[in-house]
Amino acid sequence: MRSIYTVVFFAIFVFSACHSEDKNKAGNNYEGIIVKELNEGARQVRDNMKKDIVIAHRGSTYWTPEETEAAFRWARNIGADYLEFDIQLTKDSVLIAFHDNTLGRTTNIADVFPGRAELEINEFTLKELRSLDAGSSFNSANPDRAKDSYEGLKILSLEDVVMIAEGYRIKSNKGLPEQEMVNGQWTGNYVYEKDPDDNGNRPGIYIETKNPKPGVERILAEKLGELGWNINKDQKEISAEEGKVNIANSPARVILQSFSKESITKLEQYLPGIPKCFLLWKAKMEDDLKGNYIKAINFGVDNNVHIIGPSIAGEPNNYGELTAGWMAELIHSSGMLIHPYTFDTEKQLNDYNDRADGVFTNRADLALKFYRRESDKSPQEWLIELGYH
Ligand code: G3P
Ligand code: CA
Repeated sequence: MRSIYTVVFFAIFVFSACHSEDKNKAGNNYEGIIVKELNEGARQVRDNMKKDIVIAHRGSTYWTPEETEAAFRWARNIGADYLEFDIQLTKDSVLIAFHDNTLGRTTNIADVFPGRAELEINEFTLKELRSLDAGSSFNSANPDRAKDSYEGLKILSLEDVVMIAEGYRIKSNKGLPEQEMVNGQWTGNYVYEKDPDDNGNRPGIYIETKNPKPGVERILAEKLGELGWNINKDQKEISAEEGKVNIANSPARVILQSFSKESITKLEQYLPGIPKCFLLWKAKMEDDLKGNYIKAINFGVDNNVHIIGPSIAGEPNNYGELTAGWMAELIHSSGMLIHPYTFDTEKQLNDYNDRADGVFTNRADLALKFYRRESDKSPQEWLIELGYH
């Protein structure tokens, strides 16, 4: 009789334990949806990427005006593995590095084109965009880190960022960027020169198609090909030094990312075999977090994605938690890597160290120190060396 009680008690215990388990805990079979796994080809592309990579988010939003020459020269010299930026298409079909759809937050659009300040970027030509000041708003928003030399920084093209990664800078003529002229007309592009303050690092580029307009992925593939950065075409050998960052000469020199499923599929169509990251945003997933999480991973597996880019919690951004332990277990069980965004503090680097394979960070200085690859100069010293006073 006693043994019957024991069996009944045990059965009740097991039953209640199973049912009290938080349905969001790990376990790769959720209501019939099973986490898929990367195929062999995708694993090979994945293995071209290093672990613990430091991805300089918009160059840096902390030290410099985001996605400007100051941001990317700083990130290159301090030793970031990748320069991260968002691409947008201009009215004349040029790819530029710019985060927002509109220009109000980070430029003086309201002063230069007062009647057009609310328009989206694709309503402006490259030349019009080059007339804006993309540096001064940083100074107003961050008086403790403001620098006179940030005033007048230009919006960059994709080509400008690639040239910075290769160790160049925009040539200055009497304090202004030198314009590339063809038949007496400015093309909208600038002239480059070897950066006298380049310290030999050759980072890769980590490009996000942001709110992608039709044709962006095809134009991106063509432009990367022209620049010698498309590994599917004749890829250019970039001069490099022993002991420096040299991702620019690896098969993972470019990583592509998007929140848009449609864009991910087009990136795979035009740029196959290049590592891809599917970014996640919590508000879109909350109605069934675990189900949606597994579906997002499976979308990635089905579309040759190699990385999931989830948000992290905590100050200062306070994004939704999408990199909890159980979530990371699901991603890794598929064979994909995890590059969460965006790291701004040492606490965040510590909290997620057991699961992040790389970090999007505004503080490449902190992340490099965390991974014991600290630069020989402080962030401020690099800025001064690069001419930003
Ligand atoms: O690209 C990773 C992260 O940058 C996504 O957020 O808004 O900063 O582009 P956002
Ligand atoms: Ca981005």
